[in-house]
Order: sequence, then structure tokens, then C-alpha cells
Amino acid sequence: MSGSSIQFKNVSARYPDADRNAVSDINLDVRAGEFITLVGPSGCGKTTLLRTVNRLTPLTGGSILLDGTDIATLDAIQVRRSIGYAIQATGLFPHMTVAQNIAVVPSLLEWPRAEIDARVNEMLELVRLDPDRYRNRRPRELSGGEAQRVGVARALAARPRALLMDEPFGALDAIVRRKLQVELIQIVRDTGSTTIFVTHDVNESLHLADRVVVLNAGHIEQIARPAEILRAPATPFVAELFAPDETIERLRSDASRS
Ligand SMILES: Nc1ncnc2c1ncn2[C@@H]1O[C@H](COP(=O)(O)OP(=O)(O)OP(=O)(O)O)[C@@H](O)[C@H]1O
Ligand SMILES: [Mg+2]
Repeated sequence: MSGSSIQFKNVSARYPDADRNAVSDINLDVRAGEFITLVGPSGCGKTTLLRTVNRLTPLTGGSILLDGTDIATLDAIQVRRSIGYAIQATGLFPHMTVAQNIAVVPSLLEWPRAEIDARVNEMLELVRLDPDRYRNRRPRELSGGEAQRVGVARALAARPRALLMDEPFGALDAIVRRKLQVELIQIVRDTGSTTIFVTHDVNESLHLADRVVVLNAGHIEQIARPAEILRAPATPFVAELFAPDETIERLRSDASRS
């Protein structure tokens, strides 16, 4: 299976009553199977832009093509079922078990029961939650990090051609986060899903991406491969955002001298 291409053409979005666009004139061609990270400070429009793709944010200008078809002409529900989505606040259904949450889209797509069961276990193992212990829990019986992992499992369960992930690892400690980053790269390589991954962690954005998109106040500052971002930041904003952490650098050089 291969991923979808996603093209943003002069995309703008403005919330009702806002005095300016949340995102403005975004042009971006995401190739089939590509892994894009969207990085930038809080409020710069990352979530807004991500949600334009599954039509949760309406456009006020421009268009988005999914495999060459304008999403405005597609059925919004069909679009959402075909795209995996993991959100910042996990969005698990509180009345459903972990297994039922992960099975939501496969069930809607009417996969055979046995296949759904097997897939739920496979996904739980992938995000390092023991199926026997976790399948029948409710979201309120999970830690923040465990809930996020279930959210990721749910987004991936139906092998979507496109995957939208909004800071899915935000609540995880550095070690689990690192492991899941490595796993995620492997999973999307296997499934071929085109992925747009939002983070405000610059290291995470560099580690995961084929190309990094740097957003600032609703516009794109730079689109480039990770090495290019570091070697040739396009603007002072990008240079500043990706500047080495001075405290760590200073401590490291102090440590090497002592
Ligand atoms: N539902 C809404 N109604 C009105 N304004 C909104 C709404 N959601 C977001 N905004 C505004 O749109 C801008 C972009 O918000 P967005 O949530 O896309 O930022 P973000 O980059 O995802 O930030 P964070 O890193 O904090 O999640 C902000 O100025 C925000 O205040
Ligand atoms: Mg956000």
C-alpha cells in the first residue's frame, strides 16, 4: 500500500471574529509516503493547519488536494475515515475500553471481528502496552503517557494512507518518547503512510522528518531537509529556533575542560 499525496495551495484559515488569519497562504507539496514535521512556537498555527487536511478547520482561502482531488469535493466523513488522526489531548472515548477505542475505525470499515482483535493486540504491542493488561481498561484508568500511546495506536490501526499527528508524544518522558519515535519511523516506512507530524520539540522535528516545515505566526519560514535547516536556516527566526541549547553546550564544554 502506498501513501497519499497532499498538496496545500495558497491555504488560509481564519477563525470567526479573529482579526487575522491563523494560517496564511500556505503552499506545500507533501509527496506520497513522505514524513513531514510541522514545527514552531505555541500559537503559530500548527494544529489549525493540520486540521485543514481532515476538514476539521474550514479554509477561508486556497485549496487542498488529496491524491490530486480537492478535498472540498469529497465527503468529509469519508476523508476522516481514510486519514489517521492523533490529537494533542488524545481524544479517547471515555466510555469505551482501550481495545474499543483502537478498533473504532476498523469497526466502521467493517473489518472481520478476528482481524480487528488481532490488529488491536498488534497495535498495543507496538506502542509498548501489554494487551492483556490494557485491552479492557477505560481511558480514566490510564496515565497521560499511556493515553497518548493508545491515541497513536488508534490513529494507525486502520493502516491509513495519510496520518496526521498533533504532538502525540507530548506527555511522554524522554526515554519512551525516543523509543516510540524510532518505532513510528519504522511503522510508517512499513505502511507507506504519508505523515504530517506536529511538534514544538525541534529535536523531534529533525529526528523524524524527511522534510521540516517551520511555521511562525501562521506563515511558512522554511521547508527543507533536516540537514539543510541546520546548515542553511532561511531566516533569523529559523536560526534562532534551531540554535544549539546554550546551557547544555556551556556545561558540556565546562565538563570537558574539568
Ligand atoms: N477555536 C479557535 N477559535 C479562535 N481562535 C483559535 C481557535 N483555535 C486556535 N485559535 C487561534 O489560532 C492561532 C493558532 O492556533 P493553533 O492552535 O493552530 O496553534 P498551535 O501552533 O497548534 O499552538 P500549540 O503549540 O500551543 O498547540 C492562535 O492564535 C490561537 O489563539
Ligand atoms: Mg497545537
